[in-house]
Order: sequence, then C-alpha cells, then structure tokens
Amino acid sequence: MRIILLGAPGAGKGTQAQFLMKTFGIPQISTGDMLRAAIQSGSELGQKAKKVMDAGQLVSDDIIIALVKERIAEPDCQNGFLLDGFPRTIPQADAMHEAGIDVDHVIEFNVPDEVIVKRMSGRRVHPGSGRVYHVEHNPPQQDGKDDVTGEELVIRPDDQEQTVRKRLAVYHEQTEPLLAYYRDKAETTATEYHQIDGTQNVEAISRELGERLGA
Ligand code: AP5
Ligand code: ZN
Repeated sequence: MRIILLGAPGAGKGTQAQFLMKTFGIPQISTGDMLRAAIQSGSELGQKAKKVMDAGQLVSDDIIIALVKERIAEPDCQNGFLLDGFPRTIPQADAMHEAGIDVDHVIEFNVPDEVIVKRMSGRRVHPGSGRVYHVEHNPPQQDGKDDVTGEELVIRPDDQEQTVRKRLAVYHEQTEPLLAYYRDKAETTATEYHQIDGTQNVEAISRELGERLGA
C-alpha cells in the first residue's frame, strides 16, 4: 500500500505514521526526519538544510525530489510506503507523477492553526527514530525518555512559536494547493482521498484511519 499524509506542521502526520507503519507493515518516508538525520551527520546537505529549516522555510524541490526518489528505490519500499511531509509543493507532486509513482491513499489532516500553535509547545521527539510524543496528549511512559530505547527526548529547534507561525504561513501558501491537486486526482484515478478531523484524540484518529483504509 502506498500512502501520502498531507497536513499542516503539527497536524499529526508523524504520530499517525507510527500507527500506519505497524498496521500495514510499510516503511515511513519522512523527508523532515531524513533532513534532520543529515543535519546530525554534519553533511553538506545537512548544513544547507539546517539554515532553511530553522527559518521555517522549505528546502529546494530539487534536493528533496532526489532524496525521495533514491529512498523509494530501496528494497524495503517495493511493497509500499508512507510519505510523511512529501510532496509539499506542486513541483514535488508533479515530479512524483512524472516518475510514474502513484499512490493508493491520500490522507488530509485538518487542524486549525491556533490548535497547532498550542500543540507544538508540548511536542518532544526521539532524534534517533523520529518517534514523537506530547507532554499532555501522548506522554512517554517515563518522563522525558523514549519508550523503546529509554534515550532522552528533545524539543525540535523549529518548534518555537515564531517559527511555527512561519511554517504555518509557508504551508498555507505552498502546500495547501496540493489538497485540490489530489482531490481532483481522486476523481479521475484509483487514488482515494480521505479527509480526517485532526482535532480528535490520537486513538480516535488511528481508529478512523484503520476503518477507512481497511486494516
Ligand atoms: P517536517 O519534519 O515534515 O515537519 P512538518 O511538516 O512541519 O510537520 P511536523 O513534523 O511538525 O508535524 P506532524 O504533522 O508530523 O505532527 P506530529 O505527529 O509530530 O519538516 C520539517 C522541515 O523540513 C520543514 O519545515 C522544511 O524546512 C523541511 N522539509 C521537510 N520536508 C520537506 C519537503 N518535502 N520539501 C521541502 N522542505 C521540506 O504531532 C505534533 C505534536 O502534536 C506532537 O507532540 C504529537 O504528540 C501531538 N499530537 C499528534 N496528534 C495529536 C492529536 N490528535 N491530539 C493532540 N496532540 C496530538
Ligand atoms: Zn512530523
């Protein structure tokens, strides 16, 4: 199964990706996680990406498209994958289409901006795996520690309120046009388009996704 998750920063893409990976046995391809790994490694790409990400802007389409194409060609993606944070612009979606990569499901998470701004202040992440928690809504078993490895959780540098507001503005301007793009695609192809109320709690959203995708 091939899935695209669409939604604003903080809409819950990474959180539901964890459920979908387990449920359908497909790998998560998170361009944000890939870029954060590049920053961690100190590579040239990482150094370039860090400046852009800290400013809440998007990394260039060419870099991202090359990164995703390379990842999708790996053996573990041959039975499907879950795209989290890609595509994020019309040129990225067009590049996928031109490469003949089609998907079965596009899932749109709807969450108002003000709910997102509040949510982001409580997010904690495990840098090694990309696992995501929330101090109130999705707390780890042990305060400040990852459930699987027991390692320290951190606050993402781009989660300061000012940067979150910038990321939301960039989302509305550059990514929101993809909602109509994929809604139209669903009318003429086998791709299914699902709109999900992302303000429900984490379990309720997972349940709804499981039902819609026939888990
Ligand atoms: P990326 O890492 O993709 O960030 P994002 O899209 O901004 O999304 P987030 O990871 O912030 O949110 P999410 O929807 O995954 O929410 P989460 O589940 O964590 O990208 C980062 C940067 O990389 C970009 O700004 C850009 O610079 C660059 N980049 C990445 N991809 C790119 C691309 N394709 N092109 C160009 N540049 C790219 O949840 C958020 C919080 O809410 C958590 O604390 C969670 O526990 C909590 N939560 C989740 N669900 C619920 C719920 N239902 N109720 C209450 N709390 C909840
Ligand atoms: Zn995420």
